[in-house]
Amino acid sequence: MKPQVLVARNVFPEVVERLREHFEVEDNPGDRIYTKAELIERLKGKVGAFTTGSVMIDAEVLDANPQLRVLANMAVGYNNFDMAACTARGVLCTNTPDVLTETTADFGFALMMATARRIAESEHYLRRGEWSKWFYDMFVGSDIHHATLGILGMGRIGQAIARRGAHGFEMRVLYHNRSRLDPSIEASCKATYVGKEQLLREADHLVIVMPYSKESHHAVGAPELALMKPTATLTNIARGGIVDDAALAKALAERRIAAAGLDVFEGEPTVHPDLLKVPNVVLTPHIASATVATRRAMADLAADNLIAALGFGPNAGKPPTPINPEVMKS
Ligand code: DGY
Repeated sequence: MKPQVLVARNVFPEVVERLREHFEVEDNPGDRIYTKAELIERLKGKVGAFTTGSVMIDAEVLDANPQLRVLANMAVGYNNFDMAACTARGVLCTNTPDVLTETTADFGFALMMATARRIAESEHYLRRGEWSKWFYDMFVGSDIHHATLGILGMGRIGQAIARRGAHGFEMRVLYHNRSRLDPSIEASCKATYVGKEQLLREADHLVIVMPYSKESHHAVGAPELALMKPTATLTNIARGGIVDDAALAKALAERRIAAAGLDVFEGEPTVHPDLLKVPNVVLTPHIASATVATRRAMADLAADNLIAALGFGPNAGKPPTPINPEVMKS
C-alpha cells in the first residue's frame, strides 16, 4: 500500500497526479480552508503534507499526528511552520526558494512604481468619471530613476530588486540586513550597507523583503515611520506583521509618508479597515509570486521535495530544498 499524504490546498491537478504516482493522496479540490481541528483530522494517517503559507502547523497539530514526517511548503516563506516544534519532533520541512526570486522582484518593483506614480489612485479617479481636464499637478508622484532605493532584508529577492534599481533605473541602492553581504554581491547589486535608521531616513522608496519572525514583528511601526521622509514610499512584499498596519494607515492618512504599496497584511486575508480608507495606498492580495510559470515551478518544487523526502523518485532521500536538513541525519 502506498503511503498517504495530504494536499492541504487546491493546486495544479497535474501536480496532484504526479503525487498520486507515489502516494495515496487526499487532495482539496474545493480549496476549503481547514480549521485547526479539521487539519488535525485530515492529517490522520498521513506521513507527508503539501502545504501553502496559509496552512498553520504548530506543536498541537504535530502532537496529534506523530506519524507525520515531511511538510512541503509551496512558498519560500515558512512562518506558517513552528520550526522549533517540527525539528524537535524530527519532521522535515521544505520550502520553494529560487524559483520565485525574479518574479517576486518584478512584482516588488512594479508595486513600488505603481505606488510612487499613483497608478491605482489615478485609475480609480478615471473610473469614477472624475477626469474632466488635465492640470499641471494632477496625480504628481515621485521619480524612481536616480532616487534612493532602500531595501530592508537583502536575501535573494532583495538582491534581485537591488539589481533592477541599480542597473535599470540608475538608483542609489542602500540596504539593511541582519548581516552584511559579501563585497562581491554588494558590487553586483551596486548596493551599500547602512544601519536601519539611516536606511529609513534616506530612502525615497523603501522596499521590505525580510522574513517574518518574532524578532521582525512590527520592525516598521510608528517610530520607524517617523524617521522616513514625508515624500517617501513604503512597499511591503514580505509578510504581514513586519509592518504595523494600524500605524502605517495613520501615517498615510496624516501624509507623514507619501504612499505605500502592500501585497501582504497583518491577519490577511483581512485588511486593516483604516488602510481601506486611505487613497494613497496600493493594495494587492499577496500575489507577488503569481505568474503561471512561477506558481507551477513552486508547486513542482514542493512536490519534488515531498516525493524525495519520503524516499521516492530519482532524488530519493535528497529533497532539493530542505529547511531543517539536520533532521535527516538523526
Ligand atoms: C512565498 O513564497 O513565501 C510567497 O509569499 C507565497 O506565499
